[in-house]
Amino acid sequence: MKTIIEPFRIKAVEPIRMTTAAERREKLRGAHYNLFLLHSRDVMIDLLTDSGTGAMSAAQWAAMMQGDESYAGSPSYYRFHEAVHHLMPFRHIIPTHQGRAAEAILFSLLGGKGRHIPSNTHFDTTRGNIEATGARAHDLLIAEGRDPAADHPFKGNMDIARLREFMAEHGDNVPCVMLTITNNAGGGQPVSLENIRAVAEIAHEFGKPFFIDGCRFAENAWFIKQREPGQQGRSIGAIVRDCFSVADGMTMSAKKDAFANIGGWLALNDDALAERARARLIQTEGFPTYGGLAGRDLEAIAQGLHEIIDEDYLRYRIRSNEYLIERLDALGIPTVRPAGGHAVFIDARAWLPHIAPLQYPGQALACALYEMGGIRSCEIGTVMFGRQPDGTEQPAMMDLVRLAMPRRTYTQSHVDYVIEVFAELARIKNDLRGYEITHEPEMMRHFTCHFRPLE
Ligand code: F0G
Repeated sequence: MKTIIEPFRIKAVEPIRMTTAAERREKLRGAHYNLFLLHSRDVMIDLLTDSGTGAMSAAQWAAMMQGDESYAGSPSYYRFHEAVHHLMPFRHIIPTHQGRAAEAILFSLLGGKGRHIPSNTHFDTTRGNIEATGARAHDLLIAEGRDPAADHPFKGNMDIARLREFMAEHGDNVPCVMLTITNNAGGGQPVSLENIRAVAEIAHEFGKPFFIDGCRFAENAWFIKQREPGQQGRSIGAIVRDCFSVADGMTMSAKKDAFANIGGWLALNDDALAERARARLIQTEGFPTYGGLAGRDLEAIAQGLHEIIDEDYLRYRIRSNEYLIERLDALGIPTVRPAGGHAVFIDARAWLPHIAPLQYPGQALACALYEMGGIRSCEIGTVMFGRQPDGTEQPAMMDLVRLAMPRRTYTQSHVDYVIEVFAELARIKNDLRGYEITHEPEMMRHFTCHFRPLE
């Protein structure tokens, strides 16, 4: 059969509140045109993030009842540990309340003024945690990854030649090398196993540890299985283990590829570093066998890790994004190609060329999607990345709008509705106007800044 159905049935539902365009216009003004400031009950299709928004399975809810809430040594921790260790065989696995907490601990130990940390593309919280210590975060993505239209099977790959130069230039001031799989900020594009191994090799050649930001490891492994020569006959679990076996540690948000609503971990092989990380953890998160989570959260993660590597799920997951991209393509809407793992990214700069990058074409599109159809998306462009450490403003590498797909949450008819809203928007796109920022905090402005539409 050609039709790839959702490989699940629905056992519990959440109602969606229908709203009118007039009502949404009002709500948008009230939220200062920042979609993060909306009440989610005023959103019909929420594609703001795929983080913590997935639907848990019956087996996960059942596992949660087994949650043991002991402060120390809970069996839930050991089940969590076993499930993680099965896929990511690190010596130390330290639970945290989410991915950014793992990043904060890691970079509090490895960051600091004068340090430089390369990655393919750092996610915004990773960058924030690095820069908060005075260190600098560098993105060394391959050129194809910076061109939304370029076709390449692994657009999340690190530029190996640039990494080598970078290591030679910054030498002792590089405390570690990172790699984000899949590359969220660059369109959810995968990194090949070959590239993961090459990055590990260079880091090790220079005597530096190599860490993976593994938030979407299962989607990345699915792409490796589909696209990398020699990987087709292998299980997702085996590919995942290969990816992590060359790393010295990882940060993880269990809100993505662990099907959990909250959680994360920091994993390390270095005993001394792990000891310091645990000391930090006790200060800021909790005792090392719960790390800011309830025992039931650890159970949900353990069960979620078994489910996420299911090939029927991954096939449906990635195919849903391809379906949306094919339909948008037919409407002449430029997207980041090929489809990424967790989201579809619209190239707002290319689609709305009459709006200059410093007038935030991505924000203009995101606001229009909400007003027209009650769809909440997220600008990933000059609003998010345009502000420089010295306070000046520059266009980001790209102005994208991300339609992030919560896991197992929306059905094909929701996606068809999204396509219809885009078709309507295509008719009026030349009337869309840019925005200016009227108020912004010092860091991570996109979450809370206020906008004003330009005349
Ligand atoms: N790394 C990547 C690649 C991420 O996508 C995220 C979160 C984090 C780290 C931080 O994890 O949220 O558990 O603290 N990304 C979400 C998103 C928020 O919408 O893309 P967290």
